[in-house]
Amino acid sequence: MSVLRGMAGWAACAAAVAVCGCRTEKGVAVKMSGAVEPSVVVKPFGKTKDGQLVHLYTLTGAGGVVMDVIDYGGKVVRLYTPDRTGKMTDITLGFNEVAGYETHDKYFGSLIGRYGNRIANGRFTLDGKTYTLPTNNDPGGVPCSLHGGDKGFDAYVWHSEPLSEGRNVGVKFTLTSPDGDQGYPGKLDVTVSYWLTPDNVWRIEYEAVTDKATPVNLTQHLYFNFKGEAEGTILDHELTLFADHITPVDKGLIPTGKLLPVKGTPFDFTTPWEIGRRINADDEQLRFGGGYDHNWVLNSKGGKLAPAAALYERTTGRFLEVWTTEPCIQFYCGNFLTDQVPGKRGKNLCHRGGLALETQHAPDSPNQPGFPSTILRPGQTYKTVTEYRFGVR
Ligand code: GLA
Repeated sequence: MSVLRGMAGWAACAAAVAVCGCRTEKGVAVKMSGAVEPSVVVKPFGKTKDGQLVHLYTLTGAGGVVMDVIDYGGKVVRLYTPDRTGKMTDITLGFNEVAGYETHDKYFGSLIGRYGNRIANGRFTLDGKTYTLPTNNDPGGVPCSLHGGDKGFDAYVWHSEPLSEGRNVGVKFTLTSPDGDQGYPGKLDVTVSYWLTPDNVWRIEYEAVTDKATPVNLTQHLYFNFKGEAEGTILDHELTLFADHITPVDKGLIPTGKLLPVKGTPFDFTTPWEIGRRINADDEQLRFGGGYDHNWVLNSKGGKLAPAAALYERTTGRFLEVWTTEPCIQFYCGNFLTDQVPGKRGKNLCHRGGLALETQHAPDSPNQPGFPSTILRPGQTYKTVTEYRFGVR
């Protein structure tokens, strides 16, 4: 199976797709034959602690990949992909119940907004006015606003509906973030669509419009472990990042504003490297991050769909390419994960038990005049696309 297929098949084929918008009890179809019937099945997934009903969408792609997604934060709860023998395994971190996200980790598999990653001191100035955001994170003892604040887009129940087009299936999430939400200016209307294609591409389309100028930086915080959820660390995964620079950070994980060439450093993933190989190197940036937790500036510079990353795990053969229109990617190797977090199958997770590849604009861009702007203005439409292309080798 090749994953370098670009958009081939994306708009192809008009065969009927079973889209069940009803609450059925149909189980997850985990089949890998070439003739999987693509479908979307919706079921209840319990309630949030404030009593909101959460729905679970099971997307079965025509290529065999199966994804369980909830409308609470647009979180991917389970993601089944084949290994090189065709065996399907859940390769993402998540919880079986809403309470798991509320208690342990709200970012697992989640949509992130209004601003992915950190904003220094929870403050920025836009068009002469200073805005204050909740400071919900303090790496190195330095407070900042992380992933949109106390109640980011990860903590909303989004409006959701099933999607189908040809043999592509998906789910569309919409959310209105009110003016002043978490301190951000402007009413922001957001639409995010997840698609599963016949060639095992998970395509994410992000769109947003605002009625006042505001920073916007949307991303997805899925964790991968190609050996399977709660099956040890990701240190043996081989990573490639199509990026010659990172934006180095200070001890608060805020970019210094400079660009650091990766050549000759443990941050050089321009050719495939096992993640664990250099993670303990004597390097200030690795000390600040507690490992890899940095923003790589993609050589593509964004604007068009281009390769950002590739990930491979030798024993299962699982292989992934990440393509994006975004200019940057945050590679975070789960340094804050611990064995106190229960997995979905009764086994606890562990330190570095998953890794995230979050396509984005650079952290703290609203305070960094040298970085590409993240400001969306009335009349403009925010539009980005990211694809996770699954395969085996
Ligand atoms: C991002 C950040 C990390 C961490 C995770 C959430 O990946 O870069 O530092 O906060 O989100 O756990």
